Amino acid sequence: MENSTSLVGWKRSHHLNELNISHNNQTVILMGWVQNRRDHGNLIFIDLRDREGQTQIVLDPAYAEEAHKLGEGIRSEFVLAAKGQVRPRPEGMINENLATGKIEVLVKELKILNACESLPFQIQSQIEAGETIRLKHRYLDLRRPSVKSNIMTRIKFVKAMRKALEDQGFLDIETPTLYKSTPEGAREFVVPSRINPGDFYALPQSPQLFKQVLMVAGFERYYQVVKCFRDEDLRADRQPEFTQIDCEMSWEEAEGIMQAMESAVSQATTELTGKNINSPFPKMTYSEAMENYGCDKPDTRFDLHLINISKIVASSDFKVFSGAINTGGIVNCIRIPKGGQFTRKDLDELTEFVQLHGAKGMAWAKIQEGEGADSWQSPFSKFLLDTVIDEINQLSGAEPGDLIVFGAGSYKNTKASLAALRLKLGEKLNLYDEHQLNYLWITDFPLMEKDERGKMAALHHPFTAPRPDDIPLLETDPEKALASAFDLVLNGNEVGGGSVRIHDQELQKKVFRAIGLTEEEAESKFGFLLEALKFGAPPHGGLAFGLDRLIMILTGEKSIREVITFPKTNKGTCLMTNAPNKVTGEELRDLHIRVHKLESE
Ligand code: AMO
Ligand code: AMP
Repeated sequence: MENSTSLVGWKRSHHLNELNISHNNQTVILMGWVQNRRDHGNLIFIDLRDREGQTQIVLDPAYAEEAHKLGEGIRSEFVLAAKGQVRPRPEGMINENLATGKIEVLVKELKILNACESLPFQIQSQIEAGETIRLKHRYLDLRRPSVKSNIMTRIKFVKAMRKALEDQGFLDIETPTLYKSTPEGAREFVVPSRINPGDFYALPQSPQLFKQVLMVAGFERYYQVVKCFRDEDLRADRQPEFTQIDCEMSWEEAEGIMQAMESAVSQATTELTGKNINSPFPKMTYSEAMENYGCDKPDTRFDLHLINISKIVASSDFKVFSGAINTGGIVNCIRIPKGGQFTRKDLDELTEFVQLHGAKGMAWAKIQEGEGADSWQSPFSKFLLDTVIDEINQLSGAEPGDLIVFGAGSYKNTKASLAALRLKLGEKLNLYDEHQLNYLWITDFPLMEKDERGKMAALHHPFTAPRPDDIPLLETDPEKALASAFDLVLNGNEVGGGSVRIHDQELQKKVFRAIGLTEEEAESKFGFLLEALKFGAPPHGGLAFGLDRLIMILTGEKSIREVITFPKTNKGTCLMTNAPNKVTGEELRDLHIRVHKLESE
């Protein structure tokens, strides 16, 4: 029999997870890749793998000589079609861990549909291969069951979200990708327009303005599973292109929007994981989150709070503390139950860790029996009054055997470094159950804040509505005004952001003025939205879920690259296609572009 690689006359009858003892004696046609081949001299066993699973096929020369002969040349990842009969595996050969583990298929006819060169890494869940080689051969990486399962999880979750949103009357509507500036605040990717020399489109950072226009257009409830593009510094949870499940709705206040979003995401999460998701999700204000956790996306699976002791130590003789406060900073501490066991080396490591996160140092005290200075074993206890030490012990609830660590410095560095330390301690001390899913709303964000250069800017985007009670503050003390904005947090990751929008022109103008945006600037950037708001815009608001981050957490991965089919590296490159790359002079001429290096490069 000549081996032909064509499928003429062959039609697959079953996936490779389907066959069981009830198919005994049936003739089946299977197709897939060779997971492994075991040559027992007389018999050849092959585990054939497809998208859904694995089935053992057997080549027996006494039954089908030609098939067996072909089988001798077969290697890993060859592509086969096999026609044969289902039979029970002999006693002792049953594999209880495999859906098809009770049967095998005795092959009558075999086709090698394709060969495979020797592999850069093995196709199995656990491998040692580095990410570079995996991404270069992503098609092989995606064959690995663990990676494939992440992508399948993503597909199932999106399907469940679509259903949950559509059940609530959200309509799936597309918006353009060739577009102009959006207000999310990151740097944009631009695309030259050949037919408009010198003009550029910007790729959307999100469909924010279009979804608001869709509300003005009367669609009432919109959603879209949509690619967004941001030219930011990349990290484990940030890609230059990522996917949002973007939603917008009319006729609802903050509470109603959060409820609709929460209902969709909890329904989809339950469907995916089979776990009961506690709804309603707890709510925490931004200022509570910063005060107690040092960040706006706290992981609430474990305690370890930041404790503010600025007032208690303000006038102490310990210059690290009093100095920080005299220069407008703060002093916070964290009580670590049983942390008294930490060695000098542990403490040095933690100190280095907080320094990497912007702290100047980490003071510490080990708690022992006693009162005042006697209750502390600490290099700096001599600088604090007994009453101060007692007060710190009391406020933190410290007990003998515990450790208290301290951070002093600017508000930003101290909160950020202690927040990072808190997460590190949570992991080091196994303080949480990895499988727990803690959704949490963060509400009452400031509407605007000063950037590093002291320039006022919207914290979310400039169409976010202030809380109704705070509108008067826009003219008196704008930095104090809070926004009707809400972030969704899951296990310490920001997985969604949303707000009530401004639908009233006058209020919009006030907000622009407060963030120092002139009418001309606003007009040139978002003129079409401002125009649309003049024509009967309904009250509206919405939220966008960060799909990649949600799936990263739901699959237990540490990087969103593990849940994106074709991710980019931290340098924004695609190792499989080698994008981005140079284009020819001719293409550039067509686009009216000349590239020349700046002297500084
Ligand atoms: P925001 O900018 O908060 O809001 O984005 C929404 C969610 O998208 C995810 N996300 C990212 N994921 C991966 N890589 C990135 N570079 C990246 N940037 C953001 C986050 C985030 O919570 N238009 C508004 C939404 C609204 O107001 O309705 C917006 O885009 O999980
Ligand atoms: P020093 O006076 O610099 O020797 O510091 C005394 C102790 O305070 C050391 O344990 C330092 O790690 C710690 N320390 C120094 N700066 C800070 C800071 N900004 N916050 C908390 N601890 C600090």
